[in-house]
Amino acid sequence: MLHIIILNGPNLNLLGHREPHIYGHETLDDLQRQILTSFSEKDIEFSFVQSNHEGVLLDTIHETLGKTNKAFVINAGAWTHSSIALADALRAVKHPVIEVHLSNVHARESFRHHSFIAPYAVGVICGLGLYGYHAAVEYLYQNYRAV
Ligand code: DQA
Repeated sequence: MLHIIILNGPNLNLLGHREPHIYGHETLDDLQRQILTSFSEKDIEFSFVQSNHEGVLLDTIHETLGKTNKAFVINAGAWTHSSIALADALRAVKHPVIEVHLSNVHARESFRHHSFIAPYAVGVICGLGLYGYHAAVEYLYQNYRAV
C-alpha cells in the first residue's frame, strides 16, 4: 500500500488565521479531514506532520530511508526558500516528492521564487490553495501506487 506523508513546515499550523486573503480560511485540520474523506476508498495510508522545528521534518524524512512505497507531499513554507538540509534529506531518501504551496509564490516577493526542494520534486503545484494537496495525492496515487 502506498504511504503518503504530508509534510507542512513553519507557520502552517496557523492556517485559517494567518493572512486569510493569501492562505484562505481553512485550517490544517480541515485539510486532513478533506484528504482522508476524499481518498477513503483508495488504498493509501496517510501521515500528516506539521512542525515549526526543522529537525522534526528531517527526522520524519530520514525514517523512510530504505523503505518502499513511500511518497511525500511537502509544503515547506519559508524553508522552501532557505533549507538546503530539507532538500538534501529528500534527495537522500529518493522517494517521489510533490512540492505544494497554497499561494502562487511566483506572483509574490522575489525571495519566494526560488525553491531548494523543487529540483528533487516530481512536480510543483502552487496557487491552488488546499486543492493543490488533493491534486498532489491523486497524482502520486495514479503514478506510484504499484511501486
Ligand atoms: C507558502 C509560501 C511560502 O513562501 C511561505 O513562506 C509560506 C507558505 C505557501 O503555501 O504559499 O509559509 O509555502
